[in-house]
Amino acid sequence: MPISRNVALSLGSSSWIRRMSDEGRRLKALLGADKVFDCSLGNPDLEPPRAFREALLSLAADPGRGSHGYMPNAGYDEVRRAVARRASRDQVLEIPPSNIVMSVGAAGALNVLLRTILDPGDEVVGIAPYFPEYPFYAGNYGGVFVPVSARPDFSPDPEAVAAALTPRTACIIINSPNNPTGRVYSRAELGEVAAALEAHARKTGRRPYLVADEPYREIVYGGAAAPSLMQLYPETVVVSSWSKSLSLPGERIGYLAVSPLCAEAAELVSGLAFSTRVLGFVNAPALMQRAVAMVVDEGADVEGYARRGFLLSEGLRAAGYDFPEPQGAFYAFVRAPGGDDVAFVMHLKEHGVIGVPGIGFGYPGYFRLCFCVSESTILGALSAMKDALRSWEGGD
Ligand SMILES: Cc1ncc(COP(=O)(O)O)c(C=O)c1O
Repeated sequence: MPISRNVALSLGSSSWIRRMSDEGRRLKALLGADKVFDCSLGNPDLEPPRAFREALLSLAADPGRGSHGYMPNAGYDEVRRAVARRASRDQVLEIPPSNIVMSVGAAGALNVLLRTILDPGDEVVGIAPYFPEYPFYAGNYGGVFVPVSARPDFSPDPEAVAAALTPRTACIIINSPNNPTGRVYSRAELGEVAAALEAHARKTGRRPYLVADEPYREIVYGGAAAPSLMQLYPETVVVSSWSKSLSLPGERIGYLAVSPLCAEAAELVSGLAFSTRVLGFVNAPALMQRAVAMVVDEGADVEGYARRGFLLSEGLRAAGYDFPEPQGAFYAFVRAPGGDDVAFVMHLKEHGVIGVPGIGFGYPGYFRLCFCVSESTILGALSAMKDALRSWEGGD
């Protein structure tokens, strides 16, 4: 056997997102790019801001010695200072630079964190539907992913969370704005989750970490803002990146921010720096650290995504689809007509539209469409989805 049983098993249950985006690429090659409307992958189609390109140019022109060398595992001090300033603004809480660890995207940050806090058999609670990599990330370190179903409106269900907590619970991951539902959890909803964690800590003496997975924090519609989790629960660790906000997913740059209210923040940060090293990341990419520090106050193009989201929502509703209005991120989570998400996604594919079935997010009966794609892709998808629904209901 050339690979481990564990990886062989994981390949067998490989990501529906990747499977569908591969299918999109295959169909484009076969039928022509203008016949296929690929809404499968959360790969932002908007370009990074001009300030980012300018930052890169000025860094490239800087002959500073040692600027491509190793550094402390947590990242450059001046970069940690800049990120701490920005994260403090986001979380409405003063976060010292010493509580920031630079990472290889939010995915790298999640792995570094789980490597640091999990003992084999420890549990990681997540709200379904969830980002499909969570169970794999937990499994990387012997952890067990415990999904908890959201309420029908896709808000977290505090009673279900309370029921899922055990003495082995190491953390709960909260992802808001949410992939795949587009839901932004309210302060009251998050407060109820925090209260469930507090009650659990009083009962068992173990205080699970609250992991705020926030790569979409800035992408919120209607002038609203995602509430600060650090204000609600002391053992909070924010995990984020510039992948979505500044369209830099290929550059693999992100960070962890440990709440200053966390009782053992210093030990946790030391652990995070150690895990960054021994997972083989060593440190987050040097050039990208310096580049994001220069654009740390740049915002996402929320207007651009709002326009695309509006176009998609209006069209889907007019065509007769049912889904909650996306409040943030760039996804619509649509009820699968007839209830079989895989069958309906395959039917959409026949019409040239590539979505991802809800089963890939631990929540069958729905499917996800990304609207971080061009407006012409959205318009093409809408027209095809109108026909697809008609033929689905007509049975042809
Ligand atoms: C909810 C969520 N968390 C984490 C990530 C990973 O982000 P990054 O590309 O910064 O590693 C993604 C990427 O799609 C995501 O949707």
